[in-house]
Amino acid sequence: MKHMVPSSCLNNQPFFEVRMIQIMKKLHRDLPPTKVWTYNGEFPGPTFRVWKNQPIHVLWTNELPPKHILPVDTTVHGAERDKPEVRTVVHLHGGVTPAASDGYPEAWFTKGFKKVGTHFTQAVYTYPNIQNATTLWYHDHAMGITRLNIYAGLAGLYIIHDEEEQRLDLPTIPYELPLLIQDRSFHPDGSLFYPSQPDPPVPEVNPSVLPDFFGDTILVNGNVWPYVEVEPRLYRFRILNGSNARFYRISLSNGVPFVQIGTDQGLLAEPVSITNILLAPAERADVLVDFSSSKGERITVLNDAESPFPQGTKPDPLTTGMIMQFRVKSQLSSSKTNDRIPTQLSFIPKLTESQAHLKRQLLLNTRPDSYGRSIHLLDDRLWMEPISETPKLWGVEIWSFVNVTKAAHPIHLHMVRFQILDRQPYDVEGFEEEGKIVPTGPRRSPDPNERGWKDTVRANPNEITRIIVPFGPYTGLYVWHCHILEHEDYEMMRPFYVIP
Ligand code: C2O
Ligand code: CU
Ligand code: CU
Repeated sequence: MKHMVPSSCLNNQPFFEVRMIQIMKKLHRDLPPTKVWTYNGEFPGPTFRVWKNQPIHVLWTNELPPKHILPVDTTVHGAERDKPEVRTVVHLHGGVTPAASDGYPEAWFTKGFKKVGTHFTQAVYTYPNIQNATTLWYHDHAMGITRLNIYAGLAGLYIIHDEEEQRLDLPTIPYELPLLIQDRSFHPDGSLFYPSQPDPPVPEVNPSVLPDFFGDTILVNGNVWPYVEVEPRLYRFRILNGSNARFYRISLSNGVPFVQIGTDQGLLAEPVSITNILLAPAERADVLVDFSSSKGERITVLNDAESPFPQGTKPDPLTTGMIMQFRVKSQLSSSKTNDRIPTQLSFIPKLTESQAHLKRQLLLNTRPDSYGRSIHLLDDRLWMEPISETPKLWGVEIWSFVNVTKAAHPIHLHMVRFQILDRQPYDVEGFEEEGKIVPTGPRRSPDPNERGWKDTVRANPNEITRIIVPFGPYTGLYVWHCHILEHEDYEMMRPFYVIP
């Protein structure tokens, strides 16, 4: 993948101009070229590489055609007929970003900024990068069409480096590779396929949103089922699930474990050896893989996560059960390799329940709309209802997500980082009958590879998932939402306001 190159300086800091443009790109040898939406002509967008505490500025411009390439449902809030069909706004996912640069869903803009959303304030965004080394990603966030804009191609990586990470002497380029995993489906002519109707269809609304969509083809870094040649040595992979709705449970066909060193918001305290990594949409895993005893092997990266997760169907082992392949060369390109895996990585202060100033219980639920489709909701509220979450600056809050739906939801909060406290089963029938939430088992600690700073958490069905969140460093208007993009677009997103 290409890197983003600054075009000039602003206040003595790097300034980037990024144009959203439509291109045709061949995504696989056997597939005719596909029309995709890109940042600066790259699918996925070019990767930013920045340093902690060194701010950058970005002018994002929309130079896309006036018609969407995917089916827009105009009954969805924010995507009505009176709105321009092609609207964009960029969010840096996991970024500690001031509200005016965060990409609020209603801060969208069209080509040449001719039309802008109610919350648009500025065209140039500033990213202060005041956070630990990690893998972030930037993607579109326009109200009511995020699922379509990201599916069309509007996503890319944003990597922050710092000295703590540097001191660990981890593999660097070309032995450090991002792996952005996405699923897509194609028409025989090579164009992207995204359904215009759910199953069963709703004839009164066409096109109509669906509760989720799973592509039948897996892409890594914009290529369908690619292979990568690697040397027999240690590699670092930054894995991102950039799919709309698909979860992945990732393993290597030769049984070699991953050594996970980081999660969404940076390094773990110590490495975790793990043969299966579960990633919901928007979650990241920073891993090391040692190919030194796999000379000449072909190793397939496998996926066996159900869709919808966790009660849906298993992937087909011959298609979506495979992600990509590593072809291990028999020789190293140089004799000097650093294959040392550090034993200690970082210090993570553990937040405990006693530090919390406020606790909120928030339902993850659904409700039928007037056409019988499911509206996914956060705490039973629609997007346009008044703001209900107003944490105080530097207040520490515990948010308990009570999932009363049948599927897992990856819940993401903008601007902040948090820790997972625990997960606990509760009596679902009791809730359905009496509306009371009664736990039925002990609280489970997060998985070893979740015991770091996170920005997206899997909230499983039939469970209460608790996170602890220090709200800072900025005040202002942000959003929290489910990162299954079909849910996010159809009401599973809410504003929150950090008050001074
Ligand atoms: Cu990656 Cu608000 O999202
Ligand atoms: Cu985000
Ligand atoms: Cu969801």
